[in-house]
Amino acid sequence: MENQTPSLYQAYDGMFKIGAAVSTRTIQREGEFIATHYNSLTAENQMKFEEIHPEEDRYDFAAADEIAAFAKRHGMTMRGHTLVWHNQTPDWVFEEADGSPASREKVLDRLREHARTVMSRYRGQISAWDVVNEAIEDKSESYLRETKWLSTVGEDYLEQAFRIAHEADPNVQLFYNDYNETDPVKRDKIHRLVRSLLDAGAPVHGIGMQAHWNLYGPSLEEIREAIELYASLGVRLHITELDISAFRFDDRRTDLLEPTAEMQELLTQRYEGIFRLFREYRAAIDSVTFWGAADSGTWLDGFPVRGRLNWPLPFDRQLQPKPAFWSILDQTRV
Ligand code: GLA
Repeated sequence: MENQTPSLYQAYDGMFKIGAAVSTRTIQREGEFIATHYNSLTAENQMKFEEIHPEEDRYDFAAADEIAAFAKRHGMTMRGHTLVWHNQTPDWVFEEADGSPASREKVLDRLREHARTVMSRYRGQISAWDVVNEAIEDKSESYLRETKWLSTVGEDYLEQAFRIAHEADPNVQLFYNDYNETDPVKRDKIHRLVRSLLDAGAPVHGIGMQAHWNLYGPSLEEIREAIELYASLGVRLHITELDISAFRFDDRRTDLLEPTAEMQELLTQRYEGIFRLFREYRAAIDSVTFWGAADSGTWLDGFPVRGRLNWPLPFDRQLQPKPAFWSILDQTRV
């Protein structure tokens, strides 16, 4: 009955791009469904440093190329994810041959070469790059996360990364992307960081709000405050990794094989409220990407609790729309 369901991206045409994180596996298995509902793709893993550039003199573009070709065939845009991150980045980037820390210049040269190679390959297809991912420390007392980028390059590594990315492709939008972005303490640090980058003249065009949320939080008020604060910087906003976990982060229950009726109802209400809010801020938000196209492909199966299932997306494991899907669609009609 798939073709009786209206297309999600068509319903949001003129308001937001509607995106999904995908892999070669999901586009092979669910390609038609993905092309029906989404007009923006993010490679869930396959453009990350360790996957696309595992060794200094070896790139592996096969998987990323397959996703890019699929996007092109279906007239979709893409978000590039990601250049500078503390995870899924190989150690060689930060090391000399003998394993000692590489110099600042060497790490920046490697980043320059990486950004040029990867960004030019997908030039014109990728409209926004997550240049730096998750640089802010979660603990309230510290500011920047302790990473190898920070320890080898120094505190200006973010500014350098944005300048390097801009040189590599002056036409693409450059984003800072992070999670827990609505938490008031972290939110203010993200704001301070992007403010300081802009003050230094770094080419930052947007903030990516990952939006890994759950049925109970953050509140719509917290989300609103974050959107307002970020938008006040005059940058564009993308919702980059939206999913609504059925569990609070510290909830370890493992007894459910499917969502309870109450969870289903809460999910519907959450998506309704969240999309109503996004719609209210449509002047600032250009794109809303879900972290997965349907529950059949969610990273939350097994994270943070091994072996546990989760149901965070508007489509179920059979790719059928849930009540939450219809509530998202309804927001385009009010
Ligand atoms: C972060 C990253 C994503 C992905 C998720 C978990 O949010 O930005 O690339 O790794 O964690 O899937």
